[in-house]
Amino acid sequence: MTDAPRRFMKRYPEESQEPIPIERYTSEDYFKKERDAVFRRKWLNVGNTLQAPNPGDYFIVDLDILETSLVVIHGKDGIFRAFHNMCSHRGAPVAWDKKGNCKGYLACRFHGWVYDLTGKLVQVTDAENFPSVKKEENGLAQVHCDVWKSFIFINMAPTPEETLTEHLAPVSDDIGRFDFEGFTPAFSYRIDENVNWKTLQEAQLEGWHLPYLHEKTLARAVKIDGRQYRHAGIELHGLHGVLGSPPPDTHELSPTAALASQFGTGTMQAFGSKSETSGDGYRFRGSFDFWHIFPNLFVGLLNGLYFTFNIWPVAVDRSVWEIKGYYPPVKNAGELFAREYSKVSLRDPMMEDCYTHELICAQLKSGAKDHIHFQDEEILARHLGSGVEACINEHFSSQSRLS
Ligand code: FES
Ligand SMILES: [Fe+2]
Repeated sequence: MTDAPRRFMKRYPEESQEPIPIERYTSEDYFKKERDAVFRRKWLNVGNTLQAPNPGDYFIVDLDILETSLVVIHGKDGIFRAFHNMCSHRGAPVAWDKKGNCKGYLACRFHGWVYDLTGKLVQVTDAENFPSVKKEENGLAQVHCDVWKSFIFINMAPTPEETLTEHLAPVSDDIGRFDFEGFTPAFSYRIDENVNWKTLQEAQLEGWHLPYLHEKTLARAVKIDGRQYRHAGIELHGLHGVLGSPPPDTHELSPTAALASQFGTGTMQAFGSKSETSGDGYRFRGSFDFWHIFPNLFVGLLNGLYFTFNIWPVAVDRSVWEIKGYYPPVKNAGELFAREYSKVSLRDPMMEDCYTHELICAQLKSGAKDHIHFQDEEILARHLGSGVEACINEHFSSQSRLS
């Protein structure tokens, strides 16, 4: 029986079954530990090469939790590099637009110092009046940056404790079998919410709430047994994990969805269809697989499209949720209609989630309870918290060994 009680707890006995302290969601002190032990140390996905397809293209990444903005640049040599967006003269940004093409150089608008695409300072204006400034010592401050399958990652540690390849090793073979070629950014949402970053993610790390919160939206596109949703599969892979969503026995599309599906596959239709594994291709666990890449990236894989979530902590009770859909390029008005329908059909369940996140966050602060609970189908949500705890314990114990 695939849905025997506690099937995932039995498979992963190393995961605790205990209640979770609410303090992890409300404590400023804990949030600072997460910042130092997770966000200053781990590889973080900040974008996709499709955002800067040509040499000289750049885009800005605001990392509020680390109090900096980065500029990610596609170099003339094809290499993607990341720098703090900060001029060495007096700290002005060197790139002022959120994205663009810098034609080979970045020139600070404040007093005109110029940097090349590798971050080297190549021109100091009024140089004779800066007797102590050496160009070779005053390039842009670089951050470690690497690319996997078009996903651009950065690492803020002075010396990362592992490479991006090592960080992704538990999942890269599996996800890497999905063919990421041939998609274009189709749409995006950016949601600024009053919620802790883990509460936001936990709602995406289990489908068990679908028949309740999303009764009139997503629940129609998945299999519900009585009132219970059972994942097609949940797997933990190192700090990462995946959950698969089971297709419903019958999937009745609304009239507009049926019309849209004549022209292209949208997210809701893809949720409800069976995905077959073919040859060496990606092996679907369900009709829709949702990968969590620790600490804050989700990659949703469907038949013929994929989407990503990036969840950025801003404060202990505030986070930004970036949602991006990647679809095949549209070739006609019908396909555009199908894609736009897909975009708006995702919006309603997202709003159901956001509204709930904020209510939870407000109430967790009340002090009325000390703990929350996760059941077996919520083991991936539990796994996020245990991963964060492991990072905090490791980081602060190594610090105390050093002092
Ligand atoms: S701050 Fe950039 S040149 Fe002055
Ligand atoms: Fe949800």
